[in-house]
Amino acid sequence: MNISHRPRRNRKSAAVRSLVAETTLSPSDLVLPLFFHDDDEDVAIDSMPGCTRWSLDGLVTEVTRVSKLGIHAVVLFPKIADQLKSPTGEESANPEGLVPRAIRAIKSAVPEMCVITDVALDPYSSDGHDGIVERQDDGRILVLNDETVEVLCDQALCHARAGADIVSPSDMMDGRVGEIRAELDDEGFEDVSILSYSAKYASAFYGPFRGALDSAPKDGDKKTYQMDPGNIREALREVVLDEEEGADMVMVKPAGAYLDVIAAVREATVLPVAAYQVSGEYLMLKSASASGWIDEKAAVLESLIAIKRAGASIILTYFAADVAQWLAE
Ligand code: PBG
Repeated sequence: MNISHRPRRNRKSAAVRSLVAETTLSPSDLVLPLFFHDDDEDVAIDSMPGCTRWSLDGLVTEVTRVSKLGIHAVVLFPKIADQLKSPTGEESANPEGLVPRAIRAIKSAVPEMCVITDVALDPYSSDGHDGIVERQDDGRILVLNDETVEVLCDQALCHARAGADIVSPSDMMDGRVGEIRAELDDEGFEDVSILSYSAKYASAFYGPFRGALDSAPKDGDKKTYQMDPGNIREALREVVLDEEEGADMVMVKPAGAYLDVIAAVREATVLPVAAYQVSGEYLMLKSASASGWIDEKAAVLESLIAIKRAGASIILTYFAADVAQWLAE
């Protein structure tokens, strides 16, 4: 054949392929979500095979382990005891609560670890919603915006006081980024960053996470605050508002089914863009590879490279520690 263009030349060896690689993955791109509870046992999580709900000691040991693998950031998800849950979730701002204790324990054992906390009421809410619920006479439930934002500000401040590096509102209330920023600044926490879940969709892929924390909504769904999966312009509106309100980083969640949203958000802001490969994405990869027909390592790396190629520079994934280990092999 008389052709002068042979793109295959750039794929002829591993060395050449690595020279022309457009997207690469490093442990420093990754954030590991961690589950824990106020209990002495480390318990395997049924809904998320391979994940553990740690005791505080177990949590610190795990953070120490992953730090040595090159993971620089973790995000904390507490399972709160039922008797501490309430309609307004006051426990979320208790300075002696589970999250502040976990932050202090991690920071004293591994001071260089970047500790990110989730700001939302669902683990603390007896209604299982991210905000305060008001029941209407006709049985409908309303999730109150402005009242919720006040509680979220207390929660964010509580995490900052305990030593969190980044607070991450995942609740999707309007105006919360600006109010949290103002509260943190007023109290002298100008250095604490806000990673906003800007475009968080009302997704079926959160199921295993809600199983892990026993945090599913008791009534109704989250569609009056989380976004419609079919919408993308609305994601850009959320990102613009969060940027104006002072977010330091923005997030798209879930990740794998929303690569177009990640790409559009990447174009729409100069802020760092994060994406969350959520529990359902994790479980699908785990279950499929358990069958033996999907190679777990290859499929996980491909799923993460795709998220990065779409435009995310920060990826929250339950595979973070495995990936760090694979990349070092
Ligand atoms: C709660 C929160 C959820 C997740 C992270 N923070 C669940 C939800 O919104 O119902 C889901 C994470 C996952 O599925 O891995 N605000």
